[in-house]
Amino acid sequence: MQYNFDAIINRENNFSAKYDELGKKFGRDDLTALWVADMDFMSAKPIIDAIKDRAEQGIYGYTSRPDSYYEAFCEWYRKRHGFNIKKEWIIHSPAVVSSLSLIVREVTQPGDKIIIQTPVYHPFFEVVEKNNRELVKNPLKKVNGTYVMDYEDLEKKVIDEKVKFLILCNPHNPGGRVWTKEELIRLGEICIKNNVKVISDEIHGELVFGGKRYTPFASISEEFCNHSITCLSATKTFNIAGLQASFVVIPNKFEYDKIDEILGILDIRRNNCFSLVAVEAAYKYGEEWLEQLLDYIEKNIEYVINYCKERIPKIKINKPDGTYLLWLDCKELGMEDDELSSFFINQAKVALNSGIGFGDDGKDYMRMNVACSRSILEEALKKIEGAVNKLEK
Ligand SMILES: Cc1ncc(COP(=O)(O)O)c(C=O)c1O
Repeated sequence: MQYNFDAIINRENNFSAKYDELGKKFGRDDLTALWVADMDFMSAKPIIDAIKDRAEQGIYGYTSRPDSYYEAFCEWYRKRHGFNIKKEWIIHSPAVVSSLSLIVREVTQPGDKIIIQTPVYHPFFEVVEKNNRELVKNPLKKVNGTYVMDYEDLEKKVIDEKVKFLILCNPHNPGGRVWTKEELIRLGEICIKNNVKVISDEIHGELVFGGKRYTPFASISEEFCNHSITCLSATKTFNIAGLQASFVVIPNKFEYDKIDEILGILDIRRNNCFSLVAVEAAYKYGEEWLEQLLDYIEKNIEYVINYCKERIPKIKINKPDGTYLLWLDCKELGMEDDELSSFFINQAKVALNSGIGFGDDGKDYMRMNVACSRSILEEALKKIEGAVNKLEK
């Protein structure tokens, strides 16, 4: 079927963080919402149908995962990405950030060091620091406007025996890089040689454009698989984050048991009844929707980039390989952090994420979520253009 991503969906009584928490986050409600990383689009019809059917059953008690749930997930990764996931490696967890935090708490010791590659999704800082582990930064480098990994810096940092893990963002939020197989091999070899394991957050793995290819880190070789824990989820891909279901792939039995045990102690081992049917439907029948979505998002990305090039040239944007997040380089606006955030909120009246939230190296940047209908983007860009023009006067 043909999906209409141009449609504007009424969000009244949708109880959405992106819309209903504008005032709490930005101090005003009259903003175009291009911040929280979920989409303004209706999810795929097979997912909606599966939830409706389940809702109509009228019984919402404790759930039990059928084999078909695991099979749908494994088959998707095998077919689309050549990643053969064994059922005994899979653990359900409510969300990827919960998984990252539990892995850090259960598999490392207080005082251990964990590497992250900044600028990066802000919870990566919190899951390390708030769990009393030491954060080590391996900042990404910008080469000709594109983020690349700094292997020389990494090699200096992994030799510290206290460094136990690296949290990888593959694809990278907010940098938009879909790491190539070669880049991942180089990273993995450095980590393996130095006994550093990789926790790979691959939640954006399906959101890839323009002939680029997402490679699951653990799919590269048996050795890479055994040296990694992978966090996967249908929630970002299919716009079902509110259903709270994700997967952790843990080939190491000791680590698997630790995470399984803590999920049991917290009593969060089960899916809710709607995620159970929605995730299975997504992996079985969601591909047609996803292909159309990717086409629409790629055009949105090009639309914003071209608009800025032609009409707001002080804002520079590199086309990302993946994710629906644009990383706006606002250096030429010549503002300090608070001033830059306030400019977008109070002058342009557009809600974006401030780059500094992704680490110090995010200074001068703003992150824009373009997973919305093109007319919303057009409205936001006109407002930004007007505000920048006013500055120049
Ligand atoms: C890299 C990354 N990991 C995890 C998440 C959140 O995942 P979850 O809602 O499953 O915790 C996001 C959301 O934006 C993300 O960008």
